[in-house]
Amino acid sequence: MTNPKDDPEYDEWCDPDNPRIIKYDDILAASRRIEGQIVKTPCMRAHMSKRLGMELYLKEEFLQATGCFKERGVRNTLLLLNEEQKKYGVAAASTGNHAGALAYHSAQMGIPSMVVMPIHAPITKINKAERSGGKIVLHGASMAEAKHYAMTMAKEKKMMYINGYDHPNVIEGQGTIGIEVIEQVPNVDAILVPCGGGSLLAGTAIAIKHLKPDCEVYGVVTDKTYSMVEALKKNERVTIPLEPSIADGLAVNKVGANTFHNMRGFVDKMVVVREDWVARAIMHVIEEEKVVIEGAAAVGIAAIMAGLFPHLKGKTVVAVCSGGNIDATTLTRALERGMAAEGRLVKFKVTVSDRPGGLAELCSMLASLGVTMRDCVPERAWVKGDVFSVQLKVIVETRGWDHTKELVEAIKKHYKEYFFQEMERSDASGGAGRGPCHNSACMQ
Ligand SMILES: Cc1ncc(COP(=O)(O)O)c(C=O)c1O
Repeated sequence: MTNPKDDPEYDEWCDPDNPRIIKYDDILAASRRIEGQIVKTPCMRAHMSKRLGMELYLKEEFLQATGCFKERGVRNTLLLLNEEQKKYGVAAASTGNHAGALAYHSAQMGIPSMVVMPIHAPITKINKAERSGGKIVLHGASMAEAKHYAMTMAKEKKMMYINGYDHPNVIEGQGTIGIEVIEQVPNVDAILVPCGGGSLLAGTAIAIKHLKPDCEVYGVVTDKTYSMVEALKKNERVTIPLEPSIADGLAVNKVGANTFHNMRGFVDKMVVVREDWVARAIMHVIEEEKVVIEGAAAVGIAAIMAGLFPHLKGKTVVAVCSGGNIDATTLTRALERGMAAEGRLVKFKVTVSDRPGGLAELCSMLASLGVTMRDCVPERAWVKGDVFSVQLKVIVETRGWDHTKELVEAIKKHYKEYFFQEMERSDASGGAGRGPCHNSACMQ
């Protein structure tokens, strides 16, 4: 019989047969250990509070030096290494934020490091990790391949492999957020925590429930990054297929052994939010709060906007905005999708006269409505009707659903042939008409 410890992916710190118990005292010790070495981020009242009908506070973890909370766990783990471990150095595999945090803090502390990132990791995160001074190796088409390579190399080089979401010292470090939140918003009724592999949620939940047991703790995932929901439903760490996600930081196909074990009894409920709401949340946070957050960090606000927390109306709620590392291309797409989902970016076809003045007439109608034309492509060959007409494929910007309705009515009144893509109206004001999440896994 083979010994599981001979497997290159065996990690004594994250052994499902011997899960480590995380205690509040360890989190408190971590908080003292890392003090002054990571940013104690503000927890600010959100301007969107009134619109969302609650006192919403944002724990601004994107203000960490590498733009993400992951530094907490990394710094705590590095501070606990013995001299021999410091000499050989540390290794990790990560799609982004853990990589940046490990590269940055190990360089600061003079500890050798090697971080393996899959070749398709977000460019912002690769650049950030490289700039931090660590050794970055791009390897593998997936996180699983990168991890296998990193663990094999770490064993060969006697480096310590630090699992970014399951090492017990990492979980303790992430839990320091819970201590700060209770200090900063003592009357908090509920906290919404993004969940990927689970270190942020497990650590924070343990701290919060110790300090304020009546504060509700919710884990939030997206409909493409739901491994924790699946694991809790089935009561085992199942592997889910990974699809590209706007919340790439949460894209873990199997949750941690320690996080899974420690979560129970501390997290009230898991909630799944659709990714189109995440795009809208990113857009609203930029417009209303004037800060940029990445998809993983926006899931809590997205879930509120989607109406998944109707019972939190009038309550004091903290959303952990866990990071701000988003590629310019992903951000552009998120904004476009957000605008489209809110009826502010509209696509339609209309057939107009192809004689002089036909296009000008459409333009002046749009101008009189205050609608901005973004794009206009003429189609002359595959059009029915008379040869002196042209079909225009038009993309315009409006102020929202009511304005879009005005546009649709004006086009219908002035033109015979038109086509508007079907639009599903849903307001970003607390998700009118939406009930509680049906896709949630109750933890009790
Ligand atoms: C920005 C951001 N938020 C949340 C998470 C989820 O953290 P965890 O894997 O500990 O659940 C991550 C993980 O990388 C992240 O990068």
